[in-house]
Amino acid sequence: MEDKPVVPAHLGIIMDGNGRWAKKRSLPRTAGHAEGLKALKRVICEAARQGIGYVTFYTFSTENWKRSEQEVKYLMHLFVSKIHGELAFYNKHGIRILARGDLNGLPEEVRHAIEQTVLETSNNTTITAIVAINYGGRDEICRAVNKFLSKNPGQGITETAIADNLDLPQVPPVDMIVRSANEKRLSNFLLWDSAYAELAFYEKFWPDWNEEDIRKVCHDYSQRVRKFGGVE
Ligand code: IPE
Ligand code: IPE
Ligand code: MG
Repeated sequence: MEDKPVVPAHLGIIMDGNGRWAKKRSLPRTAGHAEGLKALKRVICEAARQGIGYVTFYTFSTENWKRSEQEVKYLMHLFVSKIHGELAFYNKHGIRILARGDLNGLPEEVRHAIEQTVLETSNNTTITAIVAINYGGRDEICRAVNKFLSKNPGQGITETAIADNLDLPQVPPVDMIVRSANEKRLSNFLLWDSAYAELAFYEKFWPDWNEEDIRKVCHDYSQRVRKFGGVE
């Protein structure tokens, strides 16, 4: 029997292009966000079928507050209604939800919806979906340093000290970061973990992503040679 191709243990996804997807159809940007959520559900199911253990979805960055009040309000409303509103879907598919980012900077209802969902999916074991929300890689590193210093005043900062104080130290570092909509940048996503992550960029707008796109990501990952500074 052929060996199953190696899949990333942890995949990071920068879900981009919701606005452009909507613009192309003369719809408001918010319609793109609603459609993007459907793509997320397709992708998480296929990621589980492929045997990926963790998927981090970049949902809202620390910079996304710069958008119009109307768009931010719509997104926050979407998070409140959908993060906990999809509980039956998570439980049906064995999806455990975790969150990464500065939850204290979110409206109370959003934080509550996340905390409830994390609690109520904690026994699911098929796949872990991590919602990166009010997330910034620089912000996470600063918070990790401050967390360490408050526990160990006056001590020197080491790589281990930072890694152990990131938001989810128990989660393995991301193996591959992919981005939709053809932008080739990280936009402050998982800066610490990305030191040795494989990167891949795809043209399709996020709301158009389906099962086939995740199979393509897995195939592309299986072709990479990871060296971590050593030799093959
Ligand atoms: C990604 O899509 C979703 C969020 C950042 C919340 P965008 O809204 O950035 O879509 P574009 O880049 O404007 O097309
Ligand atoms: C990154 O996308 C943030 C999320 C996907 C949540 P952006 O659309 O905000 O990034 P830039 O502004 O194009 O770099
Ligand atoms: Mg964008």
